[in-house]
Amino acid sequence: MTDLTPMYLRDYQESVYQIPKVDLTIELDDERTLVRSSMTVERNTNRVEQDVLVLDGHDMELVTIHIDGVLLSTDQYQVSQESLIINHCPGNFVLTIETMINPKANTALEGIYKSGGAFCSQCEAEGFRRITYFLDRPDVMSIYTTTIIADKDKYPFLLSNGNCIERKDLEHGKHLVSWHDPFHKPCYLFALVAGDFDLLEDAFTTKSGRNVDLQLFVDKGNLFKAHYAMQALKDSMAWDEQVFDLEYDLDIYMIVAVDFFNMGAMENKGLNVFNSKYVLADERSATDDDFFNIQAVIGHEYFHNWTGNRVTCRDWFQLSLKEGLTVFRDQQFSADMHQKDVTRINNVRVLRAHQFAEDAGPMAHPIRPEKVVEMNNFYTLTVYEKGSEVIRMLHTLLGETGFQRGIKEYIARHDGQAVTCDDFINAMADANDRDLSQFSLWYSQVGTPQVHANATYDLQSKSLSLRLSQTPGAGQQHPPLLIPIGFELLNPKTGETMRQGVLSLSDAAQTFEFEELALQPVIALLTGFSAPVKLDFPQSNDDLLRIMTSANDGFSRWEASQSLFRQCIANYYKDTGYRLPDSLQQAFANILDADIEPAFKALQITLPGFAEMTEFLQDVEPQRLLAALEQFEQDLLNSQTAKLTSIYQQCTERLFGDSEQASGLRALKNACLHYLAGDEDFDGEVVSQFRQARNMTEQIAALNAAAQYNLPSFENINNAFAEQWQEDTLVMDKWFAIQAKVQDGNIFERLQSLLSHPKFSMENPNRVRSLVGSFANSNPKYFHDPSGKGYEWLATQIAILDKINPQVASRLITGLIQGQGFCQEVQSRLRKQLAGLQKLENISADIGEKISAALA
Ligand code: PHE
Ligand code: ZN
Repeated sequence: MTDLTPMYLRDYQESVYQIPKVDLTIELDDERTLVRSSMTVERNTNRVEQDVLVLDGHDMELVTIHIDGVLLSTDQYQVSQESLIINHCPGNFVLTIETMINPKANTALEGIYKSGGAFCSQCEAEGFRRITYFLDRPDVMSIYTTTIIADKDKYPFLLSNGNCIERKDLEHGKHLVSWHDPFHKPCYLFALVAGDFDLLEDAFTTKSGRNVDLQLFVDKGNLFKAHYAMQALKDSMAWDEQVFDLEYDLDIYMIVAVDFFNMGAMENKGLNVFNSKYVLADERSATDDDFFNIQAVIGHEYFHNWTGNRVTCRDWFQLSLKEGLTVFRDQQFSADMHQKDVTRINNVRVLRAHQFAEDAGPMAHPIRPEKVVEMNNFYTLTVYEKGSEVIRMLHTLLGETGFQRGIKEYIARHDGQAVTCDDFINAMADANDRDLSQFSLWYSQVGTPQVHANATYDLQSKSLSLRLSQTPGAGQQHPPLLIPIGFELLNPKTGETMRQGVLSLSDAAQTFEFEELALQPVIALLTGFSAPVKLDFPQSNDDLLRIMTSANDGFSRWEASQSLFRQCIANYYKDTGYRLPDSLQQAFANILDADIEPAFKALQITLPGFAEMTEFLQDVEPQRLLAALEQFEQDLLNSQTAKLTSIYQQCTERLFGDSEQASGLRALKNACLHYLAGDEDFDGEVVSQFRQARNMTEQIAALNAAAQYNLPSFENINNAFAEQWQEDTLVMDKWFAIQAKVQDGNIFERLQSLLSHPKFSMENPNRVRSLVGSFANSNPKYFHDPSGKGYEWLATQIAILDKINPQVASRLITGLIQGQGFCQEVQSRLRKQLAGLQKLENISADIGEKISAALA
C-alpha cells in the first residue's frame, strides 16, 4: 500500500544532526554508478541524549558504511525503503557511505538520470536521497566538494557546483574533474552533469568588478540557438544589480540545456539545469512567446541565486519564500524588458484562468501549505503565482523604496541561513517600522477572496462614498485580510483622471469617502490587479466603455473590455437565442479602431477563454459554454469582418518593413487571424500565411488556426510542417500539441495513433505534455465529450505514466480533479475515472494524494 500519511508544518523540528561538509566521488556508469559520500556529521549540542541518526534514502543499493574509518557491521544499522538508521552514533564523526545507483533505469527523472546521451541530476525537492543516504532537508546545509569520474570520450564535460579545482586523466580512457562550492547549501541545490556538448561562452563583469565566466552547454549542433539565452542571462545579471543591488558571487555561471526534464528549470548553485525548451531559440523555430519565456525563466533561475540559494527555505512548507518572491522578481524583470501593461495582463490571465481554479479545487492550499503528502505536488500555481501576488501586494503597500529597504534587511539578517516566511515578513516589517501581522494572514488563507464594492454619489455634498467588503474564498473562515485596492476616478465626460491611489481594506466592511468631486466619477477598481481577489462591482456598459478608453491604468482598460465580453458570453450561455447587441458591436469596433499599441490591442480583442469563463459561471455545462463562446466569436467576426481583415493585412504589410514593433504586430495579426479563420473562405489566406511565414510565430499560428477550425487545408499544411521540422525536437513538441487540438470528430483515433508515432515517447515529459496535456487543457470540446471518452483517454494515459514518471502523471491529472465548476453529470463522470485510477496497483503518492483529495 502506498503511504499517504501527510506531514504537517506544525510538526516541524530542528534536525538532530548537521552535516557541515560533504565530499562526493561519483563514478558514472549507465547502470552501475558508484557514489561515495564522506560527511562530517555533528550532533546538535542541545540534543546530547539523541544518538540515532536517520538518513533519507530511496531506491538504491547500499554498499558500505564507515564511521571514522571503521566499517559498520549489519547489526549496527537498519535499511528500509525510505531510510538508513544508524544506532549509537558519536557526537562528531566522519560518516562514509557508498551506494550504487542505476541512472539508466531512472525514468522518474529525480536524482541522477540520463537525458539523451548525458548524465544529469535533479535534486529539488527530495531527489538527493536517490543519490546517496543523507539528511535530505533544506535546513541541513553543507560545503560540497564533488569529484566526477567518467569516460573521457563520451563525457568530455564533467560539471558540478562552484569552482573547478582539479582535472586529470585516469587509466582506461577515463578522466576525473573536481569541483568545490564555497557556499553552504542544502542538498536540493546540488547538481552534476556529464556529457558532450557544444559550449557558448561569454563573460560578465559585476558592478564591483568581479569577472564572471558565463557558459551555456547545449546538445551538439544547437549552438546557433543558444545566443538569445546568453543575452537574457547578461540582462538578468545587470537588472538584478540595478534594481535589487544584488551581484553574482562566484567566478563561473553555467547553464546546461537538457531535453528530458520534469519542470522548467532548476537553480542549482552555479550550475543551472534547464529544460531545453527554455534555452534554445532562433527566429525560425521559436515563437515570440518562446523568446519571452526563455528570458523570464533565465531571469527566474538567476534571481534565485539570492532569493533561494544564499537565503533558502527552512522546510518545504516555506517554498513560497523563495518561489513567490522569485516569480515576483522575474515578473518585474519582464515588465521592465517589455511593455509593462502587457506583461502584467498576461500574469493576471494565468492566475485567473488556472490558479483561481486550483484555489477552489480539492487540492486548494495556502501559499504556505500546512499539510503535504508528496512535496512534488506543491510546486503549484498557488505557491508560485499567488505567492508572487502576495509579494506584489507588499510592494504596493510599502512602495518600491520601502520594499527594497525590506529586502536589504532580509538578506542582511539571513544570508547563509534556511528561514521561514515569517522571517521574511518580520524583516520587511522591521525595516519599514510597520506592523504586518494582519498582512501575514495571506500566508495561511485558502481560496480566492471576494471583494464587493458599492458606490453612491451625493450631488449636494459633492461626495462619493465607496463601500467595500470582503468575504473569504472557498476555504475556511478567517479574520479579514489586509487587501490593497487600487482605484482611479475618471471624469465621465472627458475621461480625465480626477483621483487615483490605493485603499487599504482591512475590515470585513469599510466605507471610503471622497470629497469635492464636482461630478459623479466613473470608478476603476482593483487597478493594476492590486490583489488576487474576485471583484464584485457591477458597472454599466457606459462606465466600462469610459474605463476602456480613458483609464491611465492599462490593466483596467483591458479588464473593462474583458468585463463587457464576459457579461456578453454569460448571456449567450444562458440564452441560446441571444445575439450580439449593438453596443457590443460598437465597443468591439472601437477597440479595433483605437490608436493603441498593437500588442495591447491584441490582448483586448482576445476573448476570455473556456477556463476563465468556467470560473465566472456556475454549474457549467461544457458543451453549452463552448457553443456560447463559438457563437459570440462568430457574431463578432460577422459584425467586423472588414475591419479585422484590414488590420490583418496592415500588420502583414508592416511586418515586411523594418519594424521594431514586430512582435506586437504579429500578436495583433494572429489575434485577427483567430477570428478570420472562422470563415472557411479564409482558408487560402491561412495557407499563404503558413507558406510565407519567416518565423515560427506566424507559421504556427496559421497551422493552429487551420486545426482549430479544421479547415480544408489542414491535413496538407500539417504534413508539410511535420516534414519540414522532423529533426527539431522542440518544434515537434509544438506539432504534437497541435495534433491534440484538432477540432475533428476523429480526434480519438488520431490521439491513439499518435501514441504509437515513432517520435512519441512516454518517457519524455515535453512530448507527453505536448500530446496528453494539450488535449486535456486545450481541447475542451473533446476532452469534455459527453460520452466521457475524453476523461477515459486521459485516465488511461495517467495510469501508464504513473509507472514511468509519477511527477508528470500528477501534473496531468488536473483536468480530472478540478471539476468543481461543472455541472453534476460532468463531476460524476470525472469521479468515475478517478475511482478507477485509485485502484491502480502501487499507485504513486503523487497521484494518490490528489485522487483521495478529489474523492473525499
Ligand atoms: N525550483 C525550480 C524553479 O522554480 C523548479 C523546480 C522544482 C525544478 C522542482 C525542478 C524540480 O525555478
Ligand atoms: Zn523558482
